[in-house]
Amino acid sequence: MKIAVVGATGLVGSKMLQVLDEQKVRIDELIVAASERSVGKEIVFQGKTYKVVSVDDAIAARPDIAIFSAGASASKQYAPLFAAQGTFVVDNSSAWRMEDDVPLVVPEINADTISKDTHIIANPNCSTIQMVMALAPIHKAYGIKRIVVSTFQSVSGSGQKGVNQLKARAHRRLIHHGACARVGRPQ
Ligand SMILES: NC(=O)c1ccc[n+]([C@@H]2O[C@H](COP(=O)([O-])OP(=O)(O)OC[C@H]3O[C@@H](n4cnc5c(N)ncnc54)[C@H](OP(=O)(O)O)[C@@H]3O)[C@@H](O)[C@H]2O)c1
Repeated sequence: MKIAVVGATGLVGSKMLQVLDEQKVRIDELIVAASERSVGKEIVFQGKTYKVVSVDDAIAARPDIAIFSAGASASKQYAPLFAAQGTFVVDNSSAWRMEDDVPLVVPEINADTISKDTHIIANPNCSTIQMVMALAPIHKAYGIKRIVVSTFQSVSGSGQKGVNQLKARAHRRLIHHGACARVGRPQ
């Protein structure tokens, strides 16, 4: 199987690569794509080094499956181009979640909504997936009418930039505390 990961340099994309490896998915050819900023960067997967390509090059490679985690606007722009040539797109962004003709799928719950003609498949956001996994059997047994939800999103939900920013702040704070401790100033 030829698989493209679009957004491969991001937090979610790198986790996807990790899961593809852990699940021992048969990959005959892997294409790692990201924005133009990352073209030419290297990613190591299963001991082999891959060069990051542009999304246009990933489309030209005609993968069987393209797994997207490149943000909603990239999904809106590129997923139909992959789909038009027969690639199955699994999209992790919010781009297609509210579209009537795109199934919103959590495989353990409603994989049966996909057919061989479904070329774009959306999935819910991270907090929803884990919640509905627990709610689905309760709903099946009793019929849930309404749920009230509060979510507290982690910093990682804002992507690699958010994590880098948090690390940089924590680092500055540590240096500040260290300096204050050395001169006996209140921290
Ligand atoms: N983080 C989470 O917990 C989480 C959970 C569920 C879903 N999601 C969704 O997954 C997507 C990615 O999230 P993330 O946390 O991985 O973000 P991220 O760390 O910022 O990574 C974004 C990835 O998309 C690429 N990209 C950005 N704009 C692009 C474009 N125009 N064309 C091609 N590639 C582009 C980036 O490439 P460069 O490195 O070259 O910039 C990078 O590989 C988002 O839609 C997000 O809502 C995130």
